Amino acid sequence: MDRSATIYLETFGCQMNVLDSQLVESQLRGLGYRFIDDWRAADVVLYNTCSVRDHAEHKVYSRIGEVGQHKRRNEDTVLGVVGCMAEREGAAMLARYPQIDLLCGPGELDKLPLLIDNMLRTDLARRTRRRRENVALQGNTHRRSGTLAAAEDRLEMVDLARSFSPDEHHGSAYVRITRGCNKFCSYCVVPQTRGAEVHRPPDTIVDECRQLVEAGVVEITLLGQTVNHYHFDDTAAVSVDGVRQPQVGGSAIRSPNLPGTSFAELLARIHDEVPDLQRLRFVTSFPRDFGDDILETIRTRPRICRYLHLPVQSASNRILRLMNRGYTVEQYEDLLVRIRRTLPDAEIASDLICGFPSETEEDHAATRDLLRRSGFKNCFIFKYSPRPGTSAHEKMEDDVPEAVKRRRNNELLEIQNGVSRAIHERYVGRTVPVFVESVSRRAEKSRNTADPSVTVGWESAQSTTQMCGRTGGDLIVMFDGEPGQIGSIVDVQIEQAAPLALFGQLAGAPVVP
Ligand code: SAH
Ligand code: SF4
Ligand code: F3S
Repeated sequence: MDRSATIYLETFGCQMNVLDSQLVESQLRGLGYRFIDDWRAADVVLYNTCSVRDHAEHKVYSRIGEVGQHKRRNEDTVLGVVGCMAEREGAAMLARYPQIDLLCGPGELDKLPLLIDNMLRTDLARRTRRRRENVALQGNTHRRSGTLAAAEDRLEMVDLARSFSPDEHHGSAYVRITRGCNKFCSYCVVPQTRGAEVHRPPDTIVDECRQLVEAGVVEITLLGQTVNHYHFDDTAAVSVDGVRQPQVGGSAIRSPNLPGTSFAELLARIHDEVPDLQRLRFVTSFPRDFGDDILETIRTRPRICRYLHLPVQSASNRILRLMNRGYTVEQYEDLLVRIRRTLPDAEIASDLICGFPSETEEDHAATRDLLRRSGFKNCFIFKYSPRPGTSAHEKMEDDVPEAVKRRRNNELLEIQNGVSRAIHERYVGRTVPVFVESVSRRAEKSRNTADPSVTVGWESAQSTTQMCGRTGGDLIVMFDGEPGQIGSIVDVQIEQAAPLALFGQLAGAPVVP
């Protein structure tokens, strides 16, 4: 077993994958492995992959191709494909790409260290002329049911074993509250790749948040595919050695009267029981499950961020029905009214899919109109991508030509750019608290390339660096600051607005988190 081996890990896809990669990396570091940035020099190359659109998978296939070439000369390199592609494609992927040594779905991540150990060990065996066997682990294809099955939930150990070392976060951390998804939107692979919805016990979540804050975390983002569908029935919870176990979720529409801990109650508990947490955020919310109890909890708790990510997907009721989203555009817009009434300062982001099977110009026009009137601070716009195994792929023809999808995509992007700019302009002249995330990419690029044509910021300053952060409402802010501010909250006076970001200057000393 060679634990001095080096690992290269690259992550694709959503925040859930980012968190999985962080957890896997800290676990493997704990076992003695070293992580490096140059894949060609690594003993083990791991890709944590996403299957949500064809494009996401293609990026990984091209990486796999490159590693295949590399392995012709460096046959000891271990190539592992982890995450949603491993789950979706399974062993078929091994047949097509013999350079892959191990596959590990998101439901089997607890076994990854053992798999890697085994690979490196059989590598020694291979040198004595025995062939290394590929391994494929998938787990989410069985949609388990009942609390007892969840009580044996080994995946929970991966979250429970997380490291709280300040070296492993920069003031910001993800905390998973729900795994999987039960919605089965007709276009989406996530219910297949991530399996059935499972909710983590509230005490475990609050504890994890508390420990992160004690370790210096300023901002926590709760994660779930339908995060506001969270519910934990404390009365029915199964415990092992006195510790409550995660619970398989139902598909019921959330009602505040259901016994147990609701999403609103979980938010309130974290806010109230972890008073030193500066910012509490959550993604992604499912429109149908967004009750007034959640809005009221946010209204009365200042450290819960006024930011909601509520993907609408389409503004045509016919398309929403075909997508199996479970709401009408009227219900969605009623939610926007309720949000604006209760939280007038909230920023809302959304997602849209254009070119869904049978989408007409009329459907598309309805979506354009919705974008114009909704005031989303930003909107992720995707061209429909048929995913094998989903009901849209099985039952509906992908009949909107690529060129039409592209045009609709561009039209929506253009409208959204105007809307985002108008929202950003409202902030000019105001001073807003900004959580500092990183050195801005442009500043980073100019430092790395020493290219004088890449200026630092919109008003170049020699003694400072352009930093990048976010407001409580999730607006991106660029300002002249210094890397030492990463992980803290500073006040920035906003001077200029663009569609994608705000630009400003520091207003006084950093606010100590
Ligand atoms: N759980 C989240 C979203 C997860 S996937 C939710 O339900 O809101 C992120 C986004 O990818 C979705 O909101 C959707 O807009 C987009 N998406 C998912 N499957 C897609 C597909 N097959 N083609 C194009 N876009 C897709
Ligand atoms: Fe996919 Fe729908 Fe679940 Fe979101 S809610 S992950 S879009 S199935
Ligand atoms: Fe992609 Fe899997 Fe996330 S498919 S969006 S990485 S849950």
